Amino acid sequence: MESYIKLRQVSYAYPKGRFSLHDVSLNLNQGEITVVKGLNGSGKTTLGKIIMGILIPSTGTIEIDGVDSNKLKLCHRGSKIGYAFQNPDRQLFTASVFEEITFPLEIKGMSKKAADQKATMLLEKFDLAHLKQRVPMRLSRGEKQRLVLASILAQEPGYLILDEPSTGLDRDRRRELYDLLETLTREGIGMAVISHDLQFTENYADRIITMAEGQVIIDGL
Ligand SMILES: Nc1ncnc2c1ncn2[C@@H]1O[C@H](COP(=O)(O)OP(=O)(O)O)[C@@H](O)[C@H]1O
Ligand SMILES: [Mg+2]
Repeated sequence: MESYIKLRQVSYAYPKGRFSLHDVSLNLNQGEITVVKGLNGSGKTTLGKIIMGILIPSTGTIEIDGVDSNKLKLCHRGSKIGYAFQNPDRQLFTASVFEEITFPLEIKGMSKKAADQKATMLLEKFDLAHLKQRVPMRLSRGEKQRLVLASILAQEPGYLILDEPSTGLDRDRRRELYDLLETLTREGIGMAVISHDLQFTENYADRIITMAEGQVIIDGL
């Protein structure tokens, strides 16, 4: 199968600062969990933001689902790749759990009826249906993580980038999240998960990428 995301000799330097990502070439596939690990400051978050299009590489090319990323508008990129920030609070902005799913869909032109149906289905799947009238910011950390995932998946992306999604979750909640990620992967989506959690890496990873000083130094399992 063709890789969903292809990076070729991608480099990036922050305008202010000394860090740079250099010469990263990488293929990322659907249907598998790729764990991205490495010390703090090794460039994991920077790499995720580059793939998502939040940062633009200074050199190199990125192809997403067969299309050169320069030709892909950021708004369309969201229906190709879903990105979850390390802190879910940065991504929750509506007044109710239900609207958190329907609002972006209606903005994109979906009818209210179709958006409502989709939200109902997703909230059921992510065990959030009983919270649908609640204010997102007041949910527990685990509930917020699931809501962000549900909201991203409403856009039907082919690939997910999750930046340390287990932050702030206890052991049982982490397990639940990991099982959910595994289920989604079996359904066909691919994901790169930035994670330090050995339990996750050992039990769920199909592939492990290790970064150091802005480069991929190990790629395997
Ligand atoms: N906006 C920025 N401007 C300048 N330097 C930055 C910026 N954001 C991150 N950095 C630096 O880039 C390096 C890599 O950061 P990051 O990608 O967040 O690493 P990781 O996610 O692996 O901890 C760090 O040294 C960090 O200080
Ligand atoms: Mg980071």
